[in-house]
Amino acid sequence: MKILVTGGTGFIGSHTVVELQAVGHEVIIVDNLSNSSADIVDKIELISGIKPELEIFNLSDKELTADFFKRNKDIDGIIHFAAFKAVGESVQEPLLYYRNNLESLVNILQGMKDSGIQNIVFSSSCTVYGQPDELPVSEDAPIKIAESPYGNTKQISEEIIKDTVKATDILAIALRYFNPIGAHDSAIIGELPLGIPNNLMPFITQTAIGIRECLSVFGDTYPTPDGTAIRDYIHVVDLAKAHVIAVDRMIQGNMANEFEVFNLGTGNGYSVLEVINSFEKVTGLKLNYKIVDRREGDITQVWANPDYSNNVLGWKAERGIDEMTLSAWKWEQVLANK
Ligand code: UD1
Repeated sequence: MKILVTGGTGFIGSHTVVELQAVGHEVIIVDNLSNSSADIVDKIELISGIKPELEIFNLSDKELTADFFKRNKDIDGIIHFAAFKAVGESVQEPLLYYRNNLESLVNILQGMKDSGIQNIVFSSSCTVYGQPDELPVSEDAPIKIAESPYGNTKQISEEIIKDTVKATDILAIALRYFNPIGAHDSAIIGELPLGIPNNLMPFITQTAIGIRECLSVFGDTYPTPDGTAIRDYIHVVDLAKAHVIAVDRMIQGNMANEFEVFNLGTGNGYSVLEVINSFEKVTGLKLNYKIVDRREGDITQVWANPDYSNNVLGWKAERGIDEMTLSAWKWEQVLANK
């Protein structure tokens, strides 16, 4: 099948392209390279032996996107990753986030409608749950008021998709990611944060390799066993595989509803200190870190109830926290030797 992967040169996108190719799908990537580089398709080829087609343009551009869909009516399914994702930046530049993340989605859905393309998998986030009232959090938990414009774009995107699905023949699956970390086993692709990382795992590996002096642990007075905040970290390859299962589910006509939502998490929560401990254990290194104030907007704890994904999607995360932290470290070492 021919699968369009928007944002396919990014962190999760590139890992997903590899998994799609592994089961025989033909992939076409659309990416504007705003947070990635064109040579990722060569890296993908090193892993899979197949270089995916890459078209470089901005999906927020209505004309260019319409033209793309006119030329590519034979696409069987779309996995839509292309979006901005920095929470802090979204607070500073909300319009940039609303324009980029929402206009691109509307343009893609319009292109699907006009070209008769039926299937789309959307990259959503557990951020839609805010701080859930009950843990682990299930897909039917209430959506909380978004903490950031970034989070709001995910909520609004799900609404846009839901309305569109009702009014058209389009089918959609929203995948709500918990905290994706780690890198491909080959250490040929991984996360490539621009500048100072916002997220925990790249900050840990950059500190260990000497790019950063010290990791700041944001708060140790949360009401958790060790006082640091808890998240459900998930290996990016496990996450990537879920996308293949989701898009196949749609193409094979196995959906139970025209719009489905699945959590992509392991079901296990780890505190910031537990992630650091895992990293130190698997690498044998001592990480330089200090406790500082809480980061504004952070929630105390969240982890997934993955039962619905496990049972209905037929997907289960297989890799544990040590495998995640070790693969992230191997990747950082490869980057350091470039
Ligand atoms: C955030 C977003 C999420 C987004 C994800 C990826 C929120 C509530 N969540 O997740 O929607 O999809 O980023 O961009 O905004 N930490 C430190 N020191 C650091 C960095 C992080 O202690 O230098 C802690 C954080 O306080 C948090 C945990 O590590 O407790 C994970 O942080 P991070 O990797 O940034 O992910 P989230 O904030 O959970």
